[in-house]
Amino acid sequence: MADLTFADPPFNLAKKYRSYDDHRGGEEYLDWCRQWLHELLRITKPTGSLCVHNIPKWLTHYAAFLNTQADFRHWIAWDALGMPLGKTLMPRHYGILFYAKDKRRQKFYEIRHPHRRCRKCGVLHKDYGGKKHGLHPFGPLVSDVWSDLHRIKHASRRDPHPCQLPETVLERIILMTTDAGDVVVDPFAGTGTTLVAARKLGRRYLGIELDAAYVAIARERLTQAHPVSRLGEVWVSQVRGALVTIRDCDWPQLQAYYAIPEPAAAIETAPIVFDWRLAAVASLPTLAAAQTPSARRRKTA
Ligand SMILES: C[S@@+](CC[C@H](N)C(=O)[O-])C[C@H]1O[C@@H](n2cnc3c(N)ncnc32)[C@H](O)[C@@H]1O
Repeated sequence: MADLTFADPPFNLAKKYRSYDDHRGGEEYLDWCRQWLHELLRITKPTGSLCVHNIPKWLTHYAAFLNTQADFRHWIAWDALGMPLGKTLMPRHYGILFYAKDKRRQKFYEIRHPHRRCRKCGVLHKDYGGKKHGLHPFGPLVSDVWSDLHRIKHASRRDPHPCQLPETVLERIILMTTDAGDVVVDPFAGTGTTLVAARKLGRRYLGIELDAAYVAIARERLTQAHPVSRLGEVWVSQVRGALVTIRDCDWPQLQAYYAIPEPAAAIETAPIVFDWRLAAVASLPTLAAAQTPSARRRKTA
């Protein structure tokens, strides 16, 4: 049984996958989706979570089905690049439906992301007004709108797959819903992003993928991925040594690695600063260049 099931299926948008034909009739596509959604719920533990990534059009149907068998938690809007399609609002987000198998028993951790600041002057983007004396040093709790995590835009940063997700999205979901040692299942594993994220966070993982070439990429990523994304004893999501998601409950341990301006209102203009001497003692893994597809290709060439 899985603690987290995460699905990033083909979106029926005629994408060019190697093996899968991404061009079905609407009802045929939805019938198929209901079948695998049913199976995912079946293998999710009573304390577990189910997340599905897709475009809003299909997620409305998924929700109608899932609402009859599980507990709705969130529709997470993940910022995307929009393209004008004519006679419609410009689509600017993908959705991640987040369900609990049973919300009274679900394992769930509040998570935080770093404050967003002006690159030039360092001042917080958000005006906290009279509330700045209560600012959290690291950053706010993550909401149901994710605009700080970006899609992989440039082909050189992507493996040869039309829809590879960034690891940071999966790491956020995994930190929010599981503990180290828990089981994460992805039935549309593609190039193995979910599995790599699970491995880096000390979770067990299982992926299913139709195409042998994508499986080969996933295996290669898993052998080369840095096995540990941890600061001291705390599992964290990071990009090039900068934390992008932490659990709220881990901050008391993590704050030991930072010089934190005082009083709290000073956070408005001055960021917390990581202390590299403490990091060296704690062996903070930096995201090695070997993680990127282009670097992996250079290494294996
Ligand atoms: C949107 S992609 C997943 C990408 C993945 N999240 C990543 O980051 O690499 C969907 C994947 O589902 C696979 N697929 C389609 N039908 C499948 C099936 N019946 N069983 C397993 N995988 C399937 C496709 O080959 C494709 O790689």
